[in-house]
Amino acid sequence: MTYTTIKQAMEKEKGSIAIRGWVYRERGSNKLKFIVLRDGTNIIQCVLKKDNFNDDQWNEIDSIRIETSMELEGTIKKDDRAPTGYEVEVTKYNVVGPSEDFPITKDQSPEFLLDNRHLWIRSRKMVSIMKIRSAYIQAREEFFKKEGFWRFDTPVLQPNQSEGGSTVFEVKYYKEKTYLAQTWQLYGEAAIFALEKVYNNGPTFRAEKSKTSRHLSEFWMVETEVAWWTLPEITEFAKKELKYCIAKVAAELPEEFESLGRDPKGLIEMCKKEWPTIKYREALKLLEEKDGMKVKFGKDLRTVEEEKIMTHFDTPVVVTHYPQEVMAFYKPKDPAFPDEALCFDMLCPEIGIEIVGGSQRSLDIEEMSENLKRDGENPEDYKFYFDLRKYGSVPHSGYGVGLERVIQWICKLDNIKDAIGFPRTMLRWTP
Ligand code: 4AD
Ligand code: MG
Repeated sequence: MTYTTIKQAMEKEKGSIAIRGWVYRERGSNKLKFIVLRDGTNIIQCVLKKDNFNDDQWNEIDSIRIETSMELEGTIKKDDRAPTGYEVEVTKYNVVGPSEDFPITKDQSPEFLLDNRHLWIRSRKMVSIMKIRSAYIQAREEFFKKEGFWRFDTPVLQPNQSEGGSTVFEVKYYKEKTYLAQTWQLYGEAAIFALEKVYNNGPTFRAEKSKTSRHLSEFWMVETEVAWWTLPEITEFAKKELKYCIAKVAAELPEEFESLGRDPKGLIEMCKKEWPTIKYREALKLLEEKDGMKVKFGKDLRTVEEEKIMTHFDTPVVVTHYPQEVMAFYKPKDPAFPDEALCFDMLCPEIGIEIVGGSQRSLDIEEMSENLKRDGENPEDYKFYFDLRKYGSVPHSGYGVGLERVIQWICKLDNIKDAIGFPRTMLRWTP
């Protein structure tokens, strides 16, 4: 017989089937053995009756443990008592790879699960998250294709910092040194003069010294850069991207969201609403009037402030015009209000964290040189970037979405570490 997935077997509803996978649960008596088999698509209850096998076989069946890999043949039928509504009566089995005692049992500490991440990713929770993450990226590829964008891949090894020297990872490079990418942006900006509308999806590195539930040292930033667009256009487009991707995955994988305790319909509804845009100064006013929190103009918003602001909204919110002096060197002054930058963050509801950061890009070489000096950088090292302002410069804008932050939020995860298969943080870089 040819093997099908568990999902296909269940779609067939009755008759002979052959499936293969891993033992998710097992229990037995001296006459029956129940095995819940798991594959990449679902789980299904299988029953092996002693009467159908000889003594040697029954001894082997009796000793089958969790995570044993197996091939099974038998007949499938509906059964309301079974965990996914079907049961297979097994007539033929083959143990492909026996399993030792699986180290992961109930109620283990998060640290233990992280030490055994290579095994923990088989769990139902991780499987749901990983499927949602994969579908999110697929939806995003689709979105950008529809919107007429080109994917542009750039080096991970880069000669410069771009988002602040304190979080840059240094790498030995033959006899020289280089850095791990903090962003794709500077190269994305070079590409718009050739392709106009570009995007990517790439590993991004920050030597974050914070051990919070929202910071990774290695994460995937999904970035966008567009020629001719200014701040209002880019912020609206960022909303459109997120709405498209979230609504699409929620519609595609409702059961996975439900198993994580998230109502997929709620996500779809949220994507149909208007997502507000407010200025940083308005956000400060809101904090003062509604929460009695006084924040002086001139600082980036801190976690507590972002969280507080977002208690007043049930959709993401775009906050624009942060104080220019605390922003990355490439964020331009607003000509109308020079203490404000033409930049934005998008904050998400519920957990109230920054999921997107972006801006219009400065075209003023002198201003950027000053900003770089302020940050202790040598403007000479940015020659290639400044060249882009010398040969047919145009207004342009872009942003980066923190993929794991979005996944953390939409999957209702306590910690960002669960939004990626093998997390890297200040304290965790194995397995
Ligand atoms: O706001 P950030 O630092 O912006 C940039 O790097 C720009 N160059 C992007 C651009 O305009 N093309 O980072 C963008 C997003 C943040 O909003 C956040 O969601 C995520 O990346 N991010 C992190 N996610 C996990 N762990 C970290 N340490 C992160 N740092 C940033
Ligand atoms: Mg930011």
